[in-house]
Amino acid sequence: MDFKGKDIISIRDFCKKDILHILEVAKNMEEKSDPNLLSGKVMASLFFEPSTRTRLSFESAMNHLGGRVIGFADAGVTSASKGETLWDTIKMVEQYSDVIVQRHLIEGAARLAAEAALIPVINAGDGANQHPTQTLLDLYTMLKTKGKLEGLNIGLCGDLKYGRTIHSLAIAMMDFKTKLYFIAPDELQMPKVYLEELKEKGVEFVKAKRIEDVSKELDVLYMTRIQKERFADPIEYERLKGVYQIGLDLLDISKKDLKIMHPLPRVDEIKPELDKTPNAVYFEQAGNGLHVRKALLALVLGKVK
Ligand code: NCD
Repeated sequence: MDFKGKDIISIRDFCKKDILHILEVAKNMEEKSDPNLLSGKVMASLFFEPSTRTRLSFESAMNHLGGRVIGFADAGVTSASKGETLWDTIKMVEQYSDVIVQRHLIEGAARLAAEAALIPVINAGDGANQHPTQTLLDLYTMLKTKGKLEGLNIGLCGDLKYGRTIHSLAIAMMDFKTKLYFIAPDELQMPKVYLEELKEKGVEFVKAKRIEDVSKELDVLYMTRIQKERFADPIEYERLKGVYQIGLDLLDISKKDLKIMHPLPRVDEIKPELDKTPNAVYFEQAGNGLHVRKALLALVLGKVK
């Protein structure tokens, strides 16, 4: 695929070959990158929803490559609060920038922005739907820490219903002959549409309620936060929060080289006692966001092939 001018909205937009190419460019970026590669380019960073890692790593990526950044981290300070439509906001922002990175609370907002804009739009998370750039850095992290993507047993644990990182990652893994373990209480299990898609593609998966029941089989355990802000009923959240809390005792019932991942932020699902173990790769994972986002910006702006 020629990435120049392309939007990055869903991980579904990429075939396996495209994904592997992006990871290759990210590796090159990590080894060495030209500090003037994106000089003269401007990235608009539109965050209608809270973010720490995604926004800062995109902005840092642009800075590292010599580009500049405009934008906002709080939609409350923009004309959206006066009633401006997303469409109108994008029609204006595209005249001030070369690429738009957007996070929004509404599913489908990224697709809408991409339809409005003539410049590339990168989805930095739309509601409970998709978070494709997180998935690419998750894959990059797996490749680096496990040495491969093919044939891994991957446990996805926590809020599988509302977690957009989970939805994007499950789709991406379909091409890599993995076995997926969906670990969640019934109320937070993987939405049916994803399970049906996995079945259709012949991907092996199992559902579990307890980590202990499957931990011995896992190569990767991908933990997630219960997505408080997406619950319609706060009482339901109170009932389900804290459902999984892993600590050092998990390592006694796991493969020695289990890697524990998390898109972050964590609440209480991973005890800090795990942080210093060689199994914990979540901070390294967040760091990998920089290399992957440098690659994505350089690709869509047509500065690398
Ligand atoms: C995730 C998100 O925003 O979906 N965070 C991130 O981008 N690293 C996960 C989360 O908020 O739980």
